[in-house]
Order: sequence, then structure tokens, then C-alpha cells
Amino acid sequence: MKKISQKFLLAGVLLAAIAVLTACGGQTPTESPKPAVEPTDAPEVVQPTEAPAMPELSGDPLRGGQLYDNWINALGVDTPEGDQPLWATQTSNTRTGKDTWRCKECHGWDYKGVDGAYGSGSHKTGFVGVTQAAGADANEILAMLKGSTNPDHDFSTVMDDQALTDLALFLSGYQFDASVFIQDKKAVGGDLASGQAIFEENCTDCHGPEGTAINWNNDANPNYIAFLALDNPLEFTHKARFGQPGVEKMPSLVDVGISDQEYADLLAYAQSLPTSSPVVEGGRLYDNWIKAMGADDMTDNQPLWATQTTNTRTGNDTWRCKECHGWDYKGADGRYGSGSHATGFTGVFAAKDKSADELLAALKGENHDFSSYLGEGQLNALVAFMQQAQDMATYINDDKTVNGDAAKGEVTYKAACASCHGEDGKALDFDDGEGKEYVGTLAADNPWEIFNKIAYGQPAAAMPAGINLGWTWQDILDILAYIQTLPIE
Ligand code: HEC
Ligand code: HEC
Ligand code: HEC
Ligand code: HEC
Repeated sequence: MKKISQKFLLAGVLLAAIAVLTACGGQTPTESPKPAVEPTDAPEVVQPTEAPAMPELSGDPLRGGQLYDNWINALGVDTPEGDQPLWATQTSNTRTGKDTWRCKECHGWDYKGVDGAYGSGSHKTGFVGVTQAAGADANEILAMLKGSTNPDHDFSTVMDDQALTDLALFLSGYQFDASVFIQDKKAVGGDLASGQAIFEENCTDCHGPEGTAINWNNDANPNYIAFLALDNPLEFTHKARFGQPGVEKMPSLVDVGISDQEYADLLAYAQSLPTSSPVVEGGRLYDNWIKAMGADDMTDNQPLWATQTTNTRTGNDTWRCKECHGWDYKGADGRYGSGSHATGFTGVFAAKDKSADELLAALKGENHDFSSYLGEGQLNALVAFMQQAQDMATYINDDKTVNGDAAKGEVTYKAACASCHGEDGKALDFDDGEGKEYVGTLAADNPWEIFNKIAYGQPAAAMPAGINLGWTWQDILDILAYIQTLPIE
């Protein structure tokens, strides 16, 4: 009952807004008199007596929703110099640069500006919302975005006309009042089974069945689907409606055509998913915890480093678990038993059957104490990772061939990797100077390393972790076998 009456209220407000805007529209000088009717026109078209509307704008309002979120990322353009000019007229929000240009930063995820969630807190600017634009003539909104009411609100210098038109169409026709079913950050009346079906249909291919395959923050504070759904359900809903700026293939649920109630269902389900995923976080920390956590560079070598002389690396590398214990976790008994990475240090594979307490104690041991750099959560994640570490010898042969099916792997590679790495694997070059290093190069040189990256993801990159996509070890090997057929240079 309550919901219905609120909807009626909303509709009433909207109608009132439209009425006001129409009335204003009638007075504006831009409305030109009706043009003479062409004599050749078919006679049956009876023209209404009112002045004709401005030409109907055409464009993509869903793209407009992404532009509202972050037009710089959506368009892939450089951030303009300095802050948006209107920024200086407020002092409460202390962000600078790129953020000050985002529509959402001034007008909010709920489109209500100072009257909504951004009425207080660190995002507060005191600026108005844009809900008045809902139902308004897109031509008027477009003029406004070109500075008709305030020259400091002219975005035509940084975006082309089509982008501004898309924004106007979004504001006019695609705003959404989520306050009906998001209250105190919770989804009111969300149906979990319905939400799960929507999630599985549209999201799991990339985010995994539990929403943990992609971490879009670092591993000091991982952000998975559930994190954002709980932390900022309005932002979550906006992104579910329009997609993520710059991520071409993330769908728009407006496009898919789900009902208002189904957004509540999706949100409720997303909020029920896990907010951490210890094994994959541990895998990325083992790979490179400094990078994974966005920590400062180390100025000294790890204290145990001085007890060996064969590996001549210095600094950050000397702190990586993998540098001392190997990609196959077997230290001196495995791949790092010889070559430039040899240290002679022990592996951790044999310790996988030790208790969590024993492993934690090792991570806090003398000259092997990581507890001043890593939090309890990260140390536990490393333990969880080590306890399920795989015996690489069953998957990868000494001659670097792998026990996988390249034909199967090709299908998965094209679906899950090619969008970023390219069909031939050459879209991203990992080498930071001389030479080239593509996925193909790495698969040929070091299949043990790439096995880890496919399973656990890449530290500090929004690259999916295969095991959280629901892949088996065999699925991972199949991809690896296929990548070994890609060009190495
Ligand atoms: C730096 C803050 C800021 C940014 C960024 C910003 N605006 Fe605004 N916007 C304002 C302010 C302040 C107003 C109040 C009216 C004025 O001064 O013109 C306003 C007014 C509006 C209005 C009219 C609202 C009303 O009720 O009259 C619309 C529509 C609008 N903005 C849309 C946008 C869109 C779309 C973007 C992104 C391209 C955007 N704004 C970016 C600050 C901002
Ligand atoms: C084609 C792959 C793909 C699909 C399908 C997909 N996403 Fe995403 N999504 C991504 C990627 C990649 C990112 C991380 C982008 C980044 O780092 O900016 C992301 C990020 C997000 C974010 C976080 C954005 C942020 O910056 O805070 C949310 C929320 C999200 N997705 C929700 C969803 C929902 C809900 C669905 C299903 C309706 C979905 N995604 C489907 C690829 C996808
Ligand atoms: C500079 C080289 C070095 C780095 C970096 C390093 N370790 Fe070690 N680790 C050792 C050595 C040497 C030992 C064995 C002697 C000791 O415990 O002091 C060891 C022992 C261990 C053990 C105990 C093994 C057993 O059999 O009981 C575990 C577990 C372990 N390390 C995990 C890690 C993890 C996880 C990281 C990353 C956070 C890491 N290590 C980083 C050198 C290193
Ligand atoms: C959303 C984009 C994205 C997707 C999808 C993706 N990756 Fe990545 N990947 C990256 C980024 C970004 C890097 C980091 C590149 C760098 O550090 O220069 C990376 C790095 C890697 C690396 C490590 C390179 C190194 O030496 O540090 C490997 C291996 C890799 N990806 C394999 C894959 C495979 C296999 C898949 C599919 C299962 C995949 N990636 C899917 C974005 C992606």
C-alpha cells in the first residue's frame, strides 16, 4: 500500500514538473511561429493549434547515463585542466581535478544534489539536483548544458553535441527514483530468487557467481559487487541500469528491460554476496603484495635477502613471496632451483598441511615478519591461499608443455580475455622497456606464472580471477594451452 501511494505521489510530482516546464516553455522566445505549411503536403494532416515543439532530439540516453556517471572515462578523453569553474563556489567537498567534472559529483547518484544523499558528508557541495529535468524538453536541457543559464555550466567546450544530447535525453527520460525501495541503504522488499536470476543472466559471465571475480580496487580494501551494493546502493543501481563507463561490454539493464521492482531484487541479492574472497586475494598478495595493496615502495631489501647471493635483484622484488618461494611454491626444490631467480630458499608447498596458526606464526617470524605491512585480513588470505596451493607438477610438465586442451581454451580465451588482451594476445604489452611481453610470450616462457595469474588475477588490475569465475584447474590449463599457440612477439 505504502509503495503504491508513494508511486502516485511521485507521478504527481512529475506531472506537476512537466506542467510547470510546459508553461515556462510557452513563454520562451525560442518558440518560433508555426512555419507555413508546404502546399504539397497531404491534406489529412491536421496541425495542432499550439506552436510546434522544437525538433525531437535523437541519441542514446543510456550512453547519457554513463556520461552522467563519468563522461571522461566514457568518452576516453583527457581530463580538462583545473577544476570545473563552478567548483570554486563551494568549499565543503575537497576533491580536486577529474572528480569536479563529473555530473554525479555535483548532482548525486540519486540526482537530488543537496536534497539527497550528497546533502551531507564528504561529497556535499550544496548544489541543486537535476530531478527538475525529468520530463522536461530535452532541447532546453541541452541549451542549459551549453551554458544558457550559467556560462560556467557550459560543457560544450569539453564534449561534442551528440554527447550533450545523450545527456539531455537521459535527464529528461531516464532518471529513476530508487528511494521507493532503497531505505537506510537496504533493499526494501527485494526478492532474492528473482535477483539471483537477473544476476546470473547478466552479470556472472564477468563478475563470477559470487560477484568476486573482478576487484576494482586494491587488495588492501577489495571492492566486489557486494561491497558497492552495501556501501552505495544508489551508485550500484545507476551502474546496473546504464553500465560502467569505459567497459564496452558491461550491459545496461535498462536495455535488457527489467522492471523497477527487479532492481530491488537485484540489489537485495547483490547485498547478500560475500565481500571478501581470501583465496584469490591471497594469490595476488603472494604474487606481489606491494602492488596488490597499493603500498609504498620498499627502500631496503627484505632482511633474509642478505643471506643469499645468487639472486641479484633489489628493493620491492626482494619482498615478493613468489621471488623467494617460486611460482610453483617449491622454492629451491622447484623452478627457482637454478637460474637468475635462484635464492636457495625453501618452498611453502610442503607447509600446506600445517595449521593456519602455524602458517600465521611463520608470517610473523623473525626476519620474516610481514605483520607491520599486511593487516590480519591479508595475512589470513595468504594462509588460505597457501593451504589450497596446487601441485603444479600435475598440470605443467618440465618442458613447459601443459596438460590442457587448446581447442576448448580458445573458446574461453575469446570470451574472457580477448576484450582486454586482443584476439592475438598482443593488445597489452607487459614489458616496461625493451622487447615485447604478451600473454603468448609469457605462456611460452613461464607457464607457472601465467597459471597463477589466470587463477587469481593480476594485482591492481580489474582482471578477473578465474577460480572466482567458477573455472576448474582443468579450465585454466585449457586456456593456458591455447595461449601457448599465440604469437610471442
Ligand atoms: C561543479 C559542479 C557541477 C557539475 C560538474 C555539473 N553541474 Fe549541473 N549544475 C551545477 C549548478 C551549481 C547548477 C545550478 C544552476 C546554475 O548555476 O546554472 C547546475 C544545474 C544543472 C541543471 C539544471 C537543474 C535545475 O533544476 O535547474 C542540470 C540539468 C544540470 N546541472 C546537469 C548537469 C550535467 C548533465 C552535468 C554533467 C555534464 C552537470 N550538470 C555537471 C553544478 C554542476
Ligand atoms: C562484459 C563483462 C561485464 C559484465 C557482463 C558486467 N560487468 Fe560489471 N564490470 C565489468 C568490469 C571490467 C568492471 C571494472 C571496471 C573498472 O575497473 O572500471 C565492472 C565494474 C562493475 C561495477 C563497479 C564500478 C565501480 O567503479 O564502482 C559494478 C557495480 C558492476 N560492474 C555491476 C555489474 C552488474 C550489476 C552487472 C550485471 C547487470 C555487470 N556488472 C555485468 C565488466 C562487466
Ligand atoms: C626474502 C625471501 C623471503 C620472502 C620475501 C618471503 N619468504 Fe617465506 N620464507 C623464507 C625463508 C628463508 C623461510 C624459511 C626460514 C624461516 O622461516 O626464516 C621462509 C619460510 C616461510 C614459511 C614457512 C614454511 C614452512 O615450511 O614452515 C611460510 C609459510 C612462508 N615463508 C610464507 C611466505 C609468504 C606468504 C611470503 C610473502 C608475504 C613470504 N614467505 C615471503 C624467505 C622468504
Ligand atoms: C578487464 C581487462 C582484462 C581481462 C578481461 C583480462 N586481463 Fe589480463 N591483464 C589486464 C591488465 C590491465 C593487466 C596488467 C598489464 C600490465 O601490468 O601492464 C593484465 C595482465 C595479465 C597478465 C600478467 C602479465 C604480467 O607479466 O604481469 C597475464 C598473464 C594475463 N593478464 C592474462 C589474462 C588472461 C589469460 C585472461 C583471460 C582469462 C585475462 N588476462 C583477462 C587486463 C585484463
